Amino acid sequence: MRLFLGLFCLFSLGYSFNFLVYSPLFAHSHSTFFGTICDFLTDAGHNVTFFTPTIVTKYRNISYTKSTKDVVHMDPSQKLKDFGDQLSSGDISRFWTEDSSATEIIPVIRVFQNMYNEQAEVMKNNLEILDDLKRRNFDVMIFEAYVFSAYPLMDYLDIKTFIPSLSVTHNVALSESIGEPAMPSVVSDGLLPHGEILSFWERIVNVLVVRSIDSILGYPVHRSFKPPFNVIDIRHIEPDASFVFINSNPFLDFPRPTLTKTVEIGGISVDVSKIKSEKLSKKWSQILNLREKTILVSFGSLLLSKDMPLENKKALVRAMREFEDVTFIWKYEDNDFERFSGGVENIEFAEWVPQRALLANPRLSAFLTHGGLGSINELSYLGIPAILCPLFADQMRNTKMLTRHNGSIGFSKYDLSNSKKIAEAFQKILYDDSYSENSKKLAEQLANQPIKPKDSMVKHAEFAARFGRLPSLDPYSRKMGFIEYFMIDVAFFCTIILAMMVFVIRKIVGNFHVKIKIE
Ligand SMILES: *[C@@H]1O[C@H](CO)[C@@H](O)[C@H](O)[C@H]1NC(C)=O
Ligand SMILES: *[C@@H]1O[C@H](CO)[C@@H](O)[C@H](O)[C@H]1NC(C)=O
Repeated sequence: MRLFLGLFCLFSLGYSFNFLVYSPLFAHSHSTFFGTICDFLTDAGHNVTFFTPTIVTKYRNISYTKSTKDVVHMDPSQKLKDFGDQLSSGDISRFWTEDSSATEIIPVIRVFQNMYNEQAEVMKNNLEILDDLKRRNFDVMIFEAYVFSAYPLMDYLDIKTFIPSLSVTHNVALSESIGEPAMPSVVSDGLLPHGEILSFWERIVNVLVVRSIDSILGYPVHRSFKPPFNVIDIRHIEPDASFVFINSNPFLDFPRPTLTKTVEIGGISVDVSKIKSEKLSKKWSQILNLREKTILVSFGSLLLSKDMPLENKKALVRAMREFEDVTFIWKYEDNDFERFSGGVENIEFAEWVPQRALLANPRLSAFLTHGGLGSINELSYLGIPAILCPLFADQMRNTKMLTRHNGSIGFSKYDLSNSKKIAEAFQKILYDDSYSENSKKLAEQLANQPIKPKDSMVKHAEFAARFGRLPSLDPYSRKMGFIEYFMIDVAFFCTIILAMMVFVIRKIVGNFHVKIKIE
């Protein structure tokens, strides 16, 4: 027995690697995604360090990992804290009524870049923490692809192998950087509200947005933390990534061409068996028993229900009142709801709702949500019919991605003041069985997908740790120029040949005609 254990230890030691997962703390969903990656690698027997410098202080006390114990924090500078406050209290409630169009993206990206630049400064001023990290001799570093402060960190810690990752579905700039085909006629950026069928104008936007973002913002300038403080050529280093992990699932997302380098781990943070085992408290269980059907209404934690225009609240209440045998649970963050819902009995307002446990409960009939990627993944895996009312960022795209499976209904935020349209959507999602059938079908497909996102992530991470950078996965097409890649030279050449042939043939035929005429 002892010998066996000894052998087992030897074996597992031989395959144990040191991973650094770097994720500055600025948004709940991003930290959840990277925390999950940490835990799955730890559970597979590796040494994992979660380095999570604070940006938004209100998340500081949340623990994003369970089995991963080596969590390293770093306090923000005052300037970085101000960026964090700006993020978490920033006036985004305007998106209840305003467009979040492509032109909004550039200033937002600029704020984020400045924030990560300051975050790099903070690391540079806390080199003793980095020196301590360096002693752990990491084999691989995993980080959010657009948090470019990862590059000076990687340089300082002397880590050669890295896996840039995305807690969103995809990012066209990253695709292009690693040489993944991202034709603007087929692939839109994650922040654009396009589906898979693109109009002429949408294709124009696709062409212009990504190019203008790249030329206006480009890659930020980061310098090494070590003398002589050289500029780090991120654009040049990024394509050497062994793999990229993206939070897109091929059975859920729009199909598109990808590379072997792109590893789709979408839905990795949805633990269905754990969610299903979550118990509802007596209070919530009783609420589910009140009426035959129940709908959960939540617009997430970024844009708050209490900040929605009053006419929208009134319209929602008017629509809800029509469904006497349905209970509506509405995540509402204030206690002023009597003002617009007085006398209506079938609405339960709550500042906090146990969303996962409710979604896992078979007594819940449907979900009205803003369509954040976290919620989209959860309800896809759990097979819940939903009304998706996207408000901003990637939510418009997520909505089109999920409604394509026919188990949910897309609903425009500009119709939230129209109680008739809201009631129609409630009616459809509650009483047209095709929605629940289709969402169950999708959930079954996700439960039975041939390769589980978790296994895929762990195996690819181990492969990278073992073999380092993988130049064999780097497509040569990435180095081609525009003319070569799109075969404009070939098209030009063929056109000339064709034109010459037509010319020659016409000449011969012409002469022939002339001859016949003469004879
Ligand atoms: C993992 O961590 C343990 C405890 O810190 C250490 O003894 C072991 O050598 C580490 N493994 C590797 C592969 O470095
Ligand atoms: C959804 O419905 C449309 C129209 O009926 C159909 O063409 C499409 O194949 C369906 N999609 C799925 C995923 O079932």
